[in-house]
Amino acid sequence: MSPPLLRVVGVAACYGQLQAVRGVSFEVGAGEALAVIGENGAGKTTLFHTICGLHRAASGNVVFGGDELRGVPAHQIVRRGIALVPEGRRIFPSLTVDENLRVAEDAHRRRSGARRWTRERVYALFPDLAAAARRGGHQISGGQQQMLAIGRALLSEPRLLVLDEVSLGLSPIVVKVLYQALVTIRGDGMTLVFVEQDVRRAIAFSDHLICLHKGSVRLRGPSPTSSLDEVRRAYFG
Ligand SMILES: Nc1ncnc2c1ncn2[C@@H]1O[C@H](COP(=O)(O)OP(=O)(O)OP(=O)(O)O)[C@@H](O)[C@H]1O
Ligand SMILES: [Mg+2]
Repeated sequence: MSPPLLRVVGVAACYGQLQAVRGVSFEVGAGEALAVIGENGAGKTTLFHTICGLHRAASGNVVFGGDELRGVPAHQIVRRGIALVPEGRRIFPSLTVDENLRVAEDAHRRRSGARRWTRERVYALFPDLAAAARRGGHQISGGQQQMLAIGRALLSEPRLLVLDEVSLGLSPIVVKVLYQALVTIRGDGMTLVFVEQDVRRAIAFSDHLICLHKGSVRLRGPSPTSSLDEVRRAYFG
């Protein structure tokens, strides 16, 4: 059996005295999708930031492709193949959609190896984004912003895509488009770790799920055999 692509081993993360993540461990195999659920303040974003090197772990380790990431700066972690689609999307509002994507493309141009993702491929994945290519980042809808954030992440040629709040605040139609795109991305062999508030969707789209509660894993299991009621109980405490 091949080793997991991502191993999170006893990770703890703090803001001063507040311990936001408490000894969290899990593994994600290459090509798998892990859903992370949990109420507001459960520690999901902090966990993701710790994986991506944006927040320093107080203890524990993140191992990606067999390499320990402790002490590796965030920009190096992107180069190694972990891309974050952040909560709130954080696109450049003063740049156009196309300029936002060009920035991401240029940032990774100097890397060696064959390119799998181009702006054209991002536009093919999200035709609605292509139609808005010349519009400013501040002029596009929340759904288009999320498409842009995903496209930008893909242009860094990740092996692991980490998505914080895939569908928050978006209409059901847009959410459907986004998850259809994620199906396509997965078909390409991508590994996913994602936060999704819609428990039913989180279960449907993932191979495994973990539920965080006050920074700890309260429930974990294979998604196909997880019951909605059991997961909802863990979610709401
Ligand atoms: N920058 C910060 N400084 C201090 N405390 C923080 C900071 N960011 C988060 N926290 C606290 O850490 C805990 C975990 O927050 P985190 O944002 O990781 O949770 P979350 O599960 O992502 O929540 P949400 O569903 O609201 O996005 C919370 O108690 C939160 O108030
Ligand atoms: Mg969050």
